[in-house]
Amino acid sequence: TASPLVVAIDGPAGSGKSSVSRATATSLGFDYLDTGAAYRALAFACLARSIDTSSPDAVIAQLVDFDYEIGIDPADYFVSVGGEDVTDAIREPRVTAVVSAVARVPEVRAYLVALFRQIIAASAKSGIIVEGRDITTVVAPDAKLRILLTASEEARMGRRSAEISGESAETTAKQLASRDAADSRVVDFMNAADGVITVDSTDLDFDQTVAAVVDLVRVAEGRAEIPTN
Ligand code: CDP
Ligand code: CDP
Repeated sequence: TASPLVVAIDGPAGSGKSSVSRATATSLGFDYLDTGAAYRALAFACLARSIDTSSPDAVIAQLVDFDYEIGIDPADYFVSVGGEDVTDAIREPRVTAVVSAVARVPEVRAYLVALFRQIIAASAKSGIIVEGRDITTVVAPDAKLRILLTASEEARMGRRSAEISGESAETTAKQLASRDAADSRVVDFMNAADGVITVDSTDLDFDQTVAAVVDLVRVAEGRAEIPTN
C-alpha cells in the first residue's frame, strides 16, 4: 500500500493542536497521533513508580520496560500504560508539572521519535496527522504538509483555563508560560522553520481553525488551489 500523507503540526500549549488535529483527522478519514500523550505517559509511569523525574538516569531506566499504547483512530482515542487506561490521568496537573523534565532528556526524545516514525509508517489510512512540538522539524521534516499552529498568549491562556476547573486563571497562566519556556529550551516551536506554514488561530473559532487546516490538506493533496484570502 502507498505510504500515508503525513501532516505535521507543532505549536505551543493551548494553541489547539490536539483538538484541531483530531477533528481534522476525523473529517478526512485520517489517523491521528498525539505525541505529547507519549511524553505524558512516560511521566505518568515515572510517577507511578515514585521515580525522581529530575534525574535523567532514573528516567532513562524507565524506558527499558515502558509498556505504552496509544490509539491513532481519532474516533477511538486512548492512551494506556502497563495495560491500564491512563487517557484522563495523563492530563492531571501532577503529570503536567513533571512532563517537561522527562521530555528534555535526549535519550527519551530519541526513543520516542523512533517510535513515532514506526507508528507513522504503519498507518493504513490515506493520511495521518501528527502533532506536538518537534514534528515539523525532527520527527517528520519531510512531511507533505507542515503547520505551525499559533495563537496569542492571551487566547491560549483563555482556552486552557476554560478547560481546567478548580485552579485560578492566574495559576493556569503561570504554569502554561513556565512549561512553554522550559519546552522552548529543548525545541523551537514558537517560530516556523523553513517551509512550515503558520496558521494563527487567535481570531478563529474552533470550526474555522479545523476548516483552515482541512483546506491546507486539500491543497497538499493537489485537490484545491491555494486559498488567497
Ligand atoms: O496539550 P499540551 O500543550 O498541554 O501538551 P502536550 O502536547 O500534551 O505535551 C506535553 C509535554 O510533552 C510538553 O509540555 C512537552 O514537554 C512534551 N512534548 C515534547 O517535548 N515534544 C512533543 N513532540 C510533544 C510534547
Ligand atoms: O493541544 P493544545 O494544547 O495545543 O490545545 P488543545 O488542548 O487542542 O486546545 C485547547 C482548547 O482550545 C480546546 O478546548 C479547544 O477546543 C480550544 N480551541 C478554541 O477555543 N479555538 C480554537 N481556534 C482552537 C482551539
